Amino acid sequence: MDYLTIALTKGRLAYKTLDLLEKVGITCEEMRDKSSRKLIFTNEEIGVRFFLAKANDVPTYVEYGAADIGICGKDTILEEGRKLYEVMDLGFGKCRMCVCGPESARELLKHHELIRVATKYPGIAKDYFYNKKHQTVEIIKLNGSIELAPLVGLAEVIVDIVETGSTLRENGLDVLEEICTLSARVIINQVSMKRENQRITKLIKDLKTVLLEEK
Ligand code: PRP
Repeated sequence: MDYLTIALTKGRLAYKTLDLLEKVGITCEEMRDKSSRKLIFTNEEIGVRFFLAKANDVPTYVEYGAADIGICGKDTILEEGRKLYEVMDLGFGKCRMCVCGPESARELLKHHELIRVATKYPGIAKDYFYNKKHQTVEIIKLNGSIELAPLVGLAEVIVDIVETGSTLRENGLDVLEEICTLSARVIINQVSMKRENQRITKLIKDLKTVLLEEK
């Protein structure tokens, strides 16, 4: 039996995913050791291999077939635009992709001013402003602490993830527009979907059953 390889997103999402996989009999105790620097784990008994990757890289591993299955946020799927199948919404890791900024920026958005938009998600921001809003903006790519940009005058607004809203609140910013809702998704390599159809279909079915029972 070939190994089924599952790519998990490092961090919070990984632990939630492990909890869920455990409920369908796919376990990996070793992976829960937070002090470990190990990146790849194998459960010989069930023929499954797991690895941890940075969020943005999970769709890449899946498109190239280095992983058969990936679990990552809808944000990274949208941003990366990889060729893969998105087969399931796991319902956790819920948050929103929003345009945020100081209240004073609301008018700039309304009047389609040429504004600067700082974001970790230039693809999503471009699609939203150019294709949906038909507003010309300057997109500035940042790698983290995006909320800083309007505070120090780098950009008028940001496009970023809002979960609890506390980062915005603590920095005097607001949600100005909502782009879309996000959550954790299961993605599948297109070739694996055919080659490992039985095992993958069973896994998806089992996951759906567990999620329905939890509702
Ligand atoms: C994310 C996001 C926001 C924050 C939103 O950042 O970019 O900054 O979480 O969460 P909240 O609405 O619950 O406050 P993350 O912590 O991933 O780090 P980053 O700033 O390095 O992107």
